[in-house]
Amino acid sequence: MKVFINKKIPETGITMLKEAGLEVTIPENNDLSEKELLQYFKNADVILNVGQNKYDKDFFEQFPNVKAIALFSVGFDHVDIKEATKRNIPIGNTPDVLSRATSDVAFLLMQSVSRRASFYFQKVKDGNWGNFDPLYELGQELYGKTLGVFGLGRIGFEMAEKCKNAFGMNIIYHNRNHNEEAEKQLDAKYVSFDELIAQSDVLSVHVNFKPEQSDLFNASVFEKMKKNAIFINTARGGFHNQKDLYEALISGQIWGAGLDVTNPEPIEDNDPILELSNVCVLPHIGSATVEARNGMARLAAENIIAFSKGEKMPHIANPEVYEV
Ligand code: DGY
Repeated sequence: MKVFINKKIPETGITMLKEAGLEVTIPENNDLSEKELLQYFKNADVILNVGQNKYDKDFFEQFPNVKAIALFSVGFDHVDIKEATKRNIPIGNTPDVLSRATSDVAFLLMQSVSRRASFYFQKVKDGNWGNFDPLYELGQELYGKTLGVFGLGRIGFEMAEKCKNAFGMNIIYHNRNHNEEAEKQLDAKYVSFDELIAQSDVLSVHVNFKPEQSDLFNASVFEKMKKNAIFINTARGGFHNQKDLYEALISGQIWGAGLDVTNPEPIEDNDPILELSNVCVLPHIGSATVEARNGMARLAAENIIAFSKGEKMPHIANPEVYEV
């Protein structure tokens, strides 16, 4: 079975695939042109996909040879899952192994914003240390404040646990379902979406993105948030309207924002949000640790190996393909 990996991944995953007797192709060049990519797709039975390439109806029609896709990500918003399922194409993903790393970034952003760390770091780098000023660009403390988690799954739970342990924060959340473990262990309280936005001092997004949730966090939501609120997004940039977010920040409707994902992504160099002292933007590095990336490589390889043996992918976005 021929496996095409579109970018180099940690060796552990490649070794697993080769030891399972699979024929693995990885291009030398990480930045393939569209034309080169199509050529590789044409010759693959299975794709191990790194990044946000779109897998939609057109793709599946153009490449009927592709029988399975193992994503090197937990998110699968770039795949038309319905279309893949209709064609019996399993789509593997990489949950759990990146929950700690991604929640670490949410926690890091929350602290960086609350103390304007990236703004001050930039000043130091610019040779502008500044004199002690009792009133200049003050931060805010997080002790005893309320963390609102939008989507309390694995990553949201890790974020909530850190906030509870570090700052004794109260946890409220909005989810499709109640998370009983979080309610028991973290005393987390389920609230409606409207209550979540009205009560959170820090609001952190941890939901799998669907197109119908585009711009969910927009002007009408920001205006209902607290004036001291910090908005954190480590999930997908599509969740927030970035212009509305900027307006909410400069008009003082909310206090700050920490983004590991932007809208659009990558962010434009001249986006005015980058100039604000109460904003920290990172380039989508949620899973960028050695541990998480090794775990992702392992899970993606496990998915492909299981598929090659005619078994169920153990980590899958569309388990319906196995329901007869
Ligand atoms: C994920 O795994 O979904 C990360 O956001 C990387 O795309």
